[in-house]
Amino acid sequence: MAALSAVDLYRFFHNGDAETLALRGVSVSLAAGEMVALLGASGSGKSTLLNCLAGLDEPDGGHVDLLGQRLTRRPEAERARRRAAHVGILMQSHNLIPVLRVMDNMVLVMTLANRLDRPRAPGHASARPAQLSGGELARAGLAVALAAAPSVLLADEPTGEVDAATEQQVFQVLAAQRAAGTAILIATHSEALAAKADRVLRMHDGRLVDV
Ligand SMILES: Nc1ncnc2c1ncn2[C@@H]1O[C@H](COP(=O)(O)OP(=O)(O)O)[C@@H](O)[C@H]1O
Ligand SMILES: [Mg+2]
Repeated sequence: MAALSAVDLYRFFHNGDAETLALRGVSVSLAAGEMVALLGASGSGKSTLLNCLAGLDEPDGGHVDLLGQRLTRRPEAERARRRAAHVGILMQSHNLIPVLRVMDNMVLVMTLANRLDRPRAPGHASARPAQLSGGELARAGLAVALAAAPSVLLADEPTGEVDAATEQQVFQVLAAQRAAGTAILIATHSEALAAKADRVLRMHDGRLVDV
């Protein structure tokens, strides 16, 4: 069973008379312990795909299965509950709640996932997000995304704003998580990161194209 699978996803956005076909029949499957890189120009549909895979957004066609159970077209509360329990999400920024210390951000994520154990304190556990540098913020965001030991990690340009050294550190955390069995999908512009993935997918105009 795939950790996450999507079949024939379509997503259209309407803005007045203009229609954007953001996803045009995307099928993708992630196995446990697999790291997949998703490359594609800006506007090709990567974020839209990740949002649909996470159940944050509903596709207009097709469906997503998380751990063998349908996620698409379930009530929002149910999607949120299953996302909290099984999916780690890492955005390019704004991963942390600003008024909470890093540690409390982790506790919150674990509480939503019904995990009652205490998290292992990450670096800068007592800092608030505004006190961290870009690289520290990226690593703290990753620690929070992984706090509830998700089966699936969806990362949207996690190293888009960090230097090469931080990118390497982020990769090491991702690699350890992959070894622990998490299925990882990373939307990225970094060819260096993509070269270390098990598989590379490329998006163009809302479709996956052959690499
Ligand atoms: N909420 C939205 N409303 C209207 N258009 C959107 C919305 N989200 C994304 N789009 C459009 O869908 C296309 C794909 O965007 P996106 O998924 O953000 O691409 P990427 O992450 O690869 O840069 C773009 O043309 C974008 O403008
Ligand atoms: Mg994007």
